[in-house]
Amino acid sequence: MDKLLITGGNRLEGDVRISGAKNSALPLLAATLLASTPITLSNVPHLQDVTTLIQLLGRMGVTVSINEKCDVEVNANTLSTPIAPYELVKTMRASIFVLGPLLARFGEAQVSLPGGCAIGSRPVDQHLKGLAALGAEITVEKGYVHARRHGRLQGARFVFDMVTVGGTENVLMAAALAEGRTILENAAREPEIVDLANMLTAMGAKIEGAGTDTIIIDGVESLSGCHYSVCPDRIETGSYLAAAAMTGGRVRATHTDPKPLDAVLLKFLEMGAKVQTGPDWIEVDMEGRRPRSVSFRTVAHPGFPTDMQAQFMAILAVAEGTGTIMETIFENRFMHVPELNRMGAGIQVDGHLAVVRGVEKLSGAPVMATDLRASMSLVLAALAAEGDTLIDRIYHIDRGYERVEEKLAQLGAKIRRVSNRGGA
Ligand code: EPZ
Repeated sequence: MDKLLITGGNRLEGDVRISGAKNSALPLLAATLLASTPITLSNVPHLQDVTTLIQLLGRMGVTVSINEKCDVEVNANTLSTPIAPYELVKTMRASIFVLGPLLARFGEAQVSLPGGCAIGSRPVDQHLKGLAALGAEITVEKGYVHARRHGRLQGARFVFDMVTVGGTENVLMAAALAEGRTILENAAREPEIVDLANMLTAMGAKIEGAGTDTIIIDGVESLSGCHYSVCPDRIETGSYLAAAAMTGGRVRATHTDPKPLDAVLLKFLEMGAKVQTGPDWIEVDMEGRRPRSVSFRTVAHPGFPTDMQAQFMAILAVAEGTGTIMETIFENRFMHVPELNRMGAGIQVDGHLAVVRGVEKLSGAPVMATDLRASMSLVLAALAAEGDTLIDRIYHIDRGYERVEEKLAQLGAKIRRVSNRGGA
């Protein structure tokens, strides 16, 4: 199992090129199942989760190829079996995104229930309720969701019990091929939903209101292929900008989009960073200063994103003052805390609240990653810590950050991947 060895203390400086968004590429890849003719996706990040979903499509008989420009070309007409097996779904819960498209396009689907993950139980009840509202017959047996439709799905008005990104995406994809009008209320507003709606529209769907809490879809008979480019990854962007805040440095994220990051950029300003933005770049410059502590609560978009919570906790760990973090989205998303405290951080947790008393310096230590964003939090802490930090189980970070050690080394970090097989 690979590890990352980081020697802290360097100020990070320079430009980092942001990849396509993992949390957009995954639903977009699932949405290719809806197209009656081949579809091409560009700017797809090269990540383990994306590879797993491409494997899943292939396992179902879908033809997937990668062209010379690393675009992903998908032809769903060769689909032979609408079954998403447990052994693939258990490794990547976003496989549940194929449920809506398989049902809408092919009339049935058997998708293993994803089960929970480290950060929470993450049920999919809203996905199933929404599809049932469109007329699907849903049963759950032996750990699999069986979905069927008799005739076309029927448009309906559906109110989500709580704001769910994946639930909104799954039902939106199914509604695109339903008969008549679907109105989704209390829908999630994340930018990845807008990206999905934009691609579906390019395929011929009729969608209004994506990015607001009410989405209106007028179903069409069929959707055709298109060439679509995945939006930039706002969480990868925020994570590398956080590296500047941690180390008193200056990082400019390029090929990205500042618009979805207002809540995060305001926090960088509040901690004393100089923030500049352009149409497709963002620069955070700490000018050598130590960040001032801030407080925040994670909420649905456009509020402060839960996917940036662990990274900002690392900044608060070395900030001047004491800050509080309230995690309102997931029930168990503080697993980076014990590891940060082993590096000398002063963090106390009480339920969904963390109180972070900033310390002058963290000290390097052997630590273990527990989930995707927690692993980035440990990397950030290691960049600012005195001495060496060896991070174990970094397969977590490879799920969501493309070429992480390469991008950090380009910014001046002393970082290398070591494998148990010895050597670099
Ligand atoms: C997406 O997960 C993202 N993943 C997550 O990013 C992100 O943290 C999350 O949205 C919130 O922004 C992808 O897009 C692949 P939810 P998702 O449904 O769709 C509860 C990362 O680090 N809920 O919005 O699974 C759920 O338990 C990952 O990149 C139900 O109760 O999140 C959670 O508490 C982590 N029933 C809350 O809603 C449901 O049917 C929000 O979950 C669905 C969700």
